[in-house]
Amino acid sequence: MAVFAFHQLEPFAGKSTTIRRPREFAYFSYDDEHVLHPLSDESLSYYYPPFFNTPGVRHPPVDLSAGFQTFKQRDDNVDEHLDALLDTLQAHEERELERLQCEHGEGDGRLEHVRVKTDVVTWRGMVTKILTAAFDDFNEFEMNATCFQGTIFIEENHSNKTAQKNSQNNQRPRPGQAPQEMMQYWGYKFETLSVLPRPWAEVSRDAIESREHAIVNNHAQYCSVVRTNIGTTSLVIAGEVDCVLGSKPRSPEDPIPWLELKTSADLQDNSPRELVKFERKLLRYWAQSFLLGVPSIAVGFRTPDGFVTRILELSTQKIPTQVKQGRWTWDGNVSINFTAAFLDLLKRTVTGDGVWRIRRVKGQKVIEILKVEESGTGNIVKDSFKKHRERL
Ligand code: A3P
Ligand code: MG
Ligand code: MG
Repeated sequence: MAVFAFHQLEPFAGKSTTIRRPREFAYFSYDDEHVLHPLSDESLSYYYPPFFNTPGVRHPPVDLSAGFQTFKQRDDNVDEHLDALLDTLQAHEERELERLQCEHGEGDGRLEHVRVKTDVVTWRGMVTKILTAAFDDFNEFEMNATCFQGTIFIEENHSNKTAQKNSQNNQRPRPGQAPQEMMQYWGYKFETLSVLPRPWAEVSRDAIESREHAIVNNHAQYCSVVRTNIGTTSLVIAGEVDCVLGSKPRSPEDPIPWLELKTSADLQDNSPRELVKFERKLLRYWAQSFLLGVPSIAVGFRTPDGFVTRILELSTQKIPTQVKQGRWTWDGNVSINFTAAFLDLLKRTVTGDGVWRIRRVKGQKVIEILKVEESGTGNIVKDSFKKHRERL
């Protein structure tokens, strides 16, 4: 077993290690029924807020509870492993292969270039947990990892996630607090009220207004697949992006103006306790957005009973400096160096055949990497992906 201990954070302090701007090279959509469409952008959404902040103008608060009874909610108890990401990588590699064969003919030595070579393949959520671990004593996680063709594939250990969720759902709301399911609905309702299915210029006024009555459905998603580097580790990370500001640039070289949507209880009295709590939230917002190269975050501040009264747009890149100038409850450079060091240990540990568990127990300042299966790749790398790779 390898143990990554972080009782002291000094070793991670100082300037951040090298990082490479995440670049999208593939994407996929889930449709309204949660059917996967690799390399399709059909579920891409466009930002158009429910109201604009105009100085001196008060707009009516937006009710996020409306339509709760008709919420078409996805059952996330199904263990999806890395399947959608692997199907998309396969489709991407097949498309590249076809392109190369058209250009150079069969049997060309370039076929080896088609395989996406990287140290790590995983969901954005997994790296977010590592990136926030140093400063989040509440976080706990279990992941499964395996090495296949020189790449470490990491998935969430789903049985542990279900146990965690059940314990969360059993928590009773505090007096004056809305039930957990309602607060979760507010997040999706805010998304529905803040996006359009096509760029604003192509959408009629009626279509914008009809969002208010649309059934909230969280089955559809657009997920971006990016390449990035943290320290000496190259990663392919996939995660959902909520919407784009304007539209996607024509050139794949240009950064995409993604925007992440969040709802948050509004600050009541700016007390130190409240500010510390909000900085903790900012850590999660920043980590999640930083990893996919999402430059902006729109926070819909709401009343305790779910009415959005103001929307604050944040620049992801500026968040760590803002926090440093505030209560300084976390440090972005430390988080990045911590993640780089952890990934180095992971690369030294997860080698050869077998399955490893990556685990952090809540409150403990260690991440353990222990081998749980001596051979195979568990359920992490699906057979159809292995067969595809054999053909390459
Ligand atoms: P909020 O973030 O506004 O609360 P995301 O912000 O990642 O795009 O997720 C969209 C919404 O999904 C969240 O909106 C929240 O309602 C719900 N959600 C995401 N992660 C969750 C979690 N771990 N537990 C409960 N709900 C979650
Ligand atoms: Mg989202
Ligand atoms: Mg969001």
